[in-house]
Amino acid sequence: PRPILLTRHGESRDNVRGRIGGDNVLSDKGEIYAKKLANFVEKRLKSERAASIWTSTLQRTILTATPIVGFPKIQWRALDEINAGVCDGMTYEEIRKNMPEEYDARKKDKLRYRYPRGESYLDVIQRLEPVIIELERQRAPVVVISHQAVLRALYAYFADRPLKEIPHIEMPLHTIIEIQMGVTGVQEKRYKLMD
Ligand code: F6P
Repeated sequence: PRPILLTRHGESRDNVRGRIGGDNVLSDKGEIYAKKLANFVEKRLKSERAASIWTSTLQRTILTATPIVGFPKIQWRALDEINAGVCDGMTYEEIRKNMPEEYDARKKDKLRYRYPRGESYLDVIQRLEPVIIELERQRAPVVVISHQAVLRALYAYFADRPLKEIPHIEMPLHTIIEIQMGVTGVQEKRYKLMD
């Protein structure tokens, strides 16, 4: 069976400041993760000639993939982070203070809540369909470097987790989730490369 490796990008400068969305570069810590990930992938997929690296179109995933050499890289817009619309670039605290109705509405129904001029989790789940079809079709390993909300949805698909749980699944930084799809079902391993 061939593995699918899921990981968030290395810590970004916006992660450090608590800002959502944006298209920022990695923090120093995030850069270190990118190197550790490259090491891991090169060892884990050494003899896998047909493996590929999939990222979003955002800098933080592309930069996380940069130290990985020897595998083709593919950018998918469908792997971009949930679009926070008018809240893009804000902290959760700023949203709570300046747009309390939006904050409360999201808290009440995080799955269905759609950011004004942005997306909901349900929107993200829907746009991931072509990615999932292509992942299922692949015979070789794939490393998916994406974002918190998107990876919650992808992971839930493979781990068969219920829809309503998706927005609340823990998806830590600097951790690789390896999914193996075999005849007896799905197996999962986690590698926490750093804090
Ligand atoms: O904070 C990082 C981040 O990827 C944001 O860009 C995004 O809006 C958020 O996580 C998604 O997580 P949640 O749905 O819990 O707000």
